[in-house]
Amino acid sequence: KKISIIGVPMDLGQTRRGVDMGPSAIRYAGVIERLERLHYEIEDLGDISIGRAERAGDPDVHVNLRNLKAVAEANEKLAEVVDEVVKKGHFPLVLGGDHSIAIGTLAGVAKHYKNLGVIWYDAHGDLNTAETSPSGNIHGMPLAASLGLGHPALTNIGGYSPKVKPENIVLIGARSLDEGEKQLIKEKGIKVYTMHEIDRLGMTKVMEETIAYLKERTDGVHLSLDLDGLDPHDAPGVGTPVIGGLTYRESHLAMEMLAEAEMITSAEFVEVNPILDERNKTASVAVALMGSLFGEKLV
Ligand code: ARG
Ligand code: MN
Ligand code: MN
Ligand code: MN
Repeated sequence: KKISIIGVPMDLGQTRRGVDMGPSAIRYAGVIERLERLHYEIEDLGDISIGRAERAGDPDVHVNLRNLKAVAEANEKLAEVVDEVVKKGHFPLVLGGDHSIAIGTLAGVAKHYKNLGVIWYDAHGDLNTAETSPSGNIHGMPLAASLGLGHPALTNIGGYSPKVKPENIVLIGARSLDEGEKQLIKEKGIKVYTMHEIDRLGMTKVMEETIAYLKERTDGVHLSLDLDGLDPHDAPGVGTPVIGGLTYRESHLAMEMLAEAEMITSAEFVEVNPILDERNKTASVAVALMGSLFGEKLV
């Protein structure tokens, strides 16, 4: 199988500078060499170009949707590139960039499946809309947008909506949800493993259940891994850290079980911010997790 890497140096979905350097930090941490060692053929498509931050007085400024125009434009481009990658039968591996880019990744992937599953590995739900967002940051909205909720400039990326059905989504690692997100999760019946459930059941059971659940209802599964799903001790280089997260070991176990299940058909690793990091630790963790996801074994 061939893997196509797409960098998305996006930092306009939130307000901390530096996450735009995520793709280069991940490349520097050796992603290509790591996956080549597993005998994959790697094609690096380089980075999607990102516009500029909006300024007061710009014509397209929207309430509580920071940088909507530039975020939407970049996601349209990303969706096209990802679509091409899937069409030629390669595995799309997207490197962020803030999590707003999941909108474009999913737009490029979802039209190739009847029932795309999504694993959202994250401290957050990213289920806000402009109406519920406490921050106006679009990186807190991509999963809602992919469900068809929110501003049309985000929900209609790729020219169709929705991309995913609520029953095909599994959230893993949630520990910071806003009021509107909690309501939406209840209303739509979205499956969630919060830190509470993960502590109680253990990651093995959580992944067994997740894999069984998605196997019976989906024909492909996208992994959207926000590095802040991990505990800040293991992944300090993120813009919105939340204590009490998943460990390095739990996360490797999760990736190894996904590799064994052979169910992941596309993936993205997002929110790596080298400015906030400790000697590129978080990018290195991301690359190590990719190794496990693609089948790396010690012996
Ligand atoms: N829920 C908060 C918000 O909407 C934080 C979102 C953090 N999202 C992320 N991808 N790190 O602003
Ligand atoms: Mn080819
Ligand atoms: Mn997050
Ligand atoms: Mn996120």
